[in-house]
Formats: sequence, structure tokens, C-alpha cells
Amino acid sequence: MRLDKFLADGGFGTRKEVKRLIKSGAAAVNGVTEKDAGRNVSGSDNVTVNGKSAVSREFVYIMMNKPQGYVSATEDKHYPVVTELLDESYKRFAPSPVGRLDIDTEGLLLLTNDGALNHRLTSPSKNVYKTYFAMLDNEAEDKDAETFAGGMEFKDFTAKSARLTICENRREVFIEIAEGKFHQVKRMCARVGKNVEYLKRVAIGPLELDESLLPGEYRELDEKELELLKNC
Ligand code: URA
Repeated sequence: MRLDKFLADGGFGTRKEVKRLIKSGAAAVNGVTEKDAGRNVSGSDNVTVNGKSAVSREFVYIMMNKPQGYVSATEDKHYPVVTELLDESYKRFAPSPVGRLDIDTEGLLLLTNDGALNHRLTSPSKNVYKTYFAMLDNEAEDKDAETFAGGMEFKDFTAKSARLTICENRREVFIEIAEGKFHQVKRMCARVGKNVEYLKRVAIGPLELDESLLPGEYRELDEKELELLKNC
């Protein structure tokens, strides 16, 4: 197989991107830098990119700062979907969003084709807490934090004990919930008489949003982040 195809299949970018990568001298075959994208490689060759093994991979794990105006889905009849923001080299893996953020919610959204991890992170029984930053239309009160801590009954589900942390100006709060039901944060805030004016997810379990990502930007998880998620 051609080296550029080998690397594109391995998720290192589109054919055009990997050609550029190879030209830059980042790829090596059996320890020798290879700048010829058409060089033939086989399974017995040791192909590396920037010194790291370039074996084809099965899964992709992407952290996105979801922008407002996009639906957390792979297709939708009326609105743009988050997967449209991905480069072709990632679309090839057919990743799906892990859980859902409302169309007007920003922040940490994971996308992966690893169904087992997706299930584990979204299953309420696994108790993976998600942290949101919210701007409320009214000041939060200390008694609201107690109401959140006691859990809440809704007609379609019971929210487990949740943590409400009130910032100094009291209209800004952090909310940690174990589930991720439809409009859950907004509904819990409404229960204590507040409307959410702005909502952003900042963490899933131990994984925090990389604040250097602007809305609409994304990057792959690094090994440490992936370990954190797999072990949480
Ligand atoms: N809760 C909400 O109300 N909206 C979201 O997007 C996520 C959690």
C-alpha cells in the first residue's frame, strides 16, 4: 500500500494532509525518514510519524467545544449537526456524540465511534458526573443548593443528588449532575425558580474542556485524557 494511503487510513489526515506531513519529513519507514508519499509499505514495515508508531486504528476520540446553533447528532432535518464541523479524516470513522447538549448549549462534547465507552459515559447507573457552568436570570440562593443536593422528582425521571456551586455574583453557578436527561439542567433550575440564560458544559467526569478550543473547534483526546475517561 502507498505510504500516504497507509497514513490516511490510520487517521493521520486526508490524503492531501498526509502528503504534506510526509513532505515535511515527519514520517519514517523502518527508522529512515521517508519523503516519498508513493513509497510502498507493507504490514511488516515499521511506519512512524514523529517517532510514534502509525498502526491503523479502529477508534477515534474527539473533544469538541460545541458551538450554539448545532444539534448534537449525526443528522437532522432542520439544523446543522456537530459532525459537520469535523474534517473528512475524522468523519471517515463515523463518530457519534456522547450524550446530547441542547442546540443553544456550548461546551464539552465528546465524539467517538467507541460504542462501549459512549455507553459507559452516558449510562446514569455509572454515575459519571457532568459539570455545567450556567448564567441564571436571578441570583441563586443557598437553599437552592440544598434542593439540588436532595435530588428532584420529575414526571419522566428522578434526578439524583446534584451539586450547585454558587459563584460570588450569585447569577453564575456550576452544576454537577449524574444523568443527562432532556433539558435537565434547565428543568432543575426552573424548579428553584430560575431561568438559564447561558449554559456551557465544562467537564465530563474527570475530563475538562480544553479552554483553548474556541466554539466549533476540536481536537483528539491525548492518551492521558483517554485513560482518565476509561478509568472513571
Ligand atoms: N441540561 C440542559 O438543560 N441542557 C443541556 O444542553 C445539557 C444539560
